[in-house]
Amino acid sequence: MSVVAKGKVCVTGAGGFLASWVVDLLLSKDYFVHGTVRDPDNEKYSHLKKLEKAGDKLKLVKADLLDYASLQSAIAGCIGVFHVASPVPSSSVPNPEVEVMAPAVDGTLNVLKACVEANVKRVVYVSSAAALMMNPNWSKNQVIDESCWSDLEFCKRTENWYCASKTQAESEAFEFAKRTGISLVSICPTMVFGPVLQQHTVNASTLALAKLLKEGFESRENQVRLIVDVRDVAQALLLVYEKPEAEGRYICTAHKAKEKDVVEKLKSLYPNYNYPKSYVEVEERSTMTSEKLQKLGWTFRPLEETLVDSVESYRKAKILD
Ligand SMILES: NC(=O)c1ccc[n+]([C@@H]2O[C@H](COP(=O)([O-])OP(=O)(O)OC[C@H]3O[C@@H](n4cnc5c(N)ncnc54)[C@H](OP(=O)(O)O)[C@@H]3O)[C@@H](O)[C@H]2O)c1
Repeated sequence: MSVVAKGKVCVTGAGGFLASWVVDLLLSKDYFVHGTVRDPDNEKYSHLKKLEKAGDKLKLVKADLLDYASLQSAIAGCIGVFHVASPVPSSSVPNPEVEVMAPAVDGTLNVLKACVEANVKRVVYVSSAAALMMNPNWSKNQVIDESCWSDLEFCKRTENWYCASKTQAESEAFEFAKRTGISLVSICPTMVFGPVLQQHTVNASTLALAKLLKEGFESRENQVRLIVDVRDVAQALLLVYEKPEAEGRYICTAHKAKEKDVVEKLKSLYPNYNYPKSYVEVEERSTMTSEKLQKLGWTFRPLEETLVDSVESYRKAKILD
């Protein structure tokens, strides 16, 4: 692919936690952005309209991942697409095939078809570490790299619908790209923390961190957490979009920390919250590396900065009340 000239790009699910930061970054770099949202008049997208340069450079377009025509009009005229939207449920859902699998898998294929039709030069797809780590055949001692795929049947059998949705969506996306020749790069983030721009909704990973501060759990498993800052994920998306040599998948992770250590760090900074009371040790799972992304030039901020900025933004958004 030749170097992508700056122009009009589309961000799907623009009002979400990660996508809001992607929109903010793109506007700051003078891209014109079509941000898709399901209900443009909803108050939950008001933060987007307040972003610097939004007045001149951001257009919110109504689109649903399962409505092909709506995606077609959102993507028409764009040279790049950041496909971020996907259902990320915080708890189990009654009908996962309809609520999780279809928007993730059919929705991603709809986005890609619309991209081919609009002659989009590059698509950056936000996948997840969930599409790599659910593989019972991967040796626990081996660091997970981009060659590892979650086992779709295993995800379904264990009713891990989010993992299943991201695995199937990403692998079908790459098959589609191979068939059609469209330039597709994916970013697979681990647990994303960091400040929230949105003020009216709380996404699943933000809720997970907020609960550590306010839920007062009696006991929790001391799992290893692989954490990355939302602003660094946005930078990774832009990096793979702009670098012509970027190809395939990129794991996006920054810090490996046991949950108890994250809580201890938070306690030292903010002693007055209702933290978990005790931890039970559990077996460590395989870890992951972002070496490939770092070789492309990606860097990340210290964990303490992510934690402090998260808590400060949660306070502002009244998530901890
Ligand atoms: N946060 C993490 O820890 C993490 C880690 C790895 C990967 N990811 C990936 O990052 C992406 C963004 O996640 P997030 O954490 O920012 O979650 P989020 O705030 O819940 O964002 C999800 C977005 O998807 C949109 N969406 C869901 N179903 C849709 C549909 N049928 N049509 C159109 N839009 C739809 C939602 O739009 P509405 O505003 O209309 O509801 C929302 O904007 C997802 O692809 C997720 O898999 C997240």
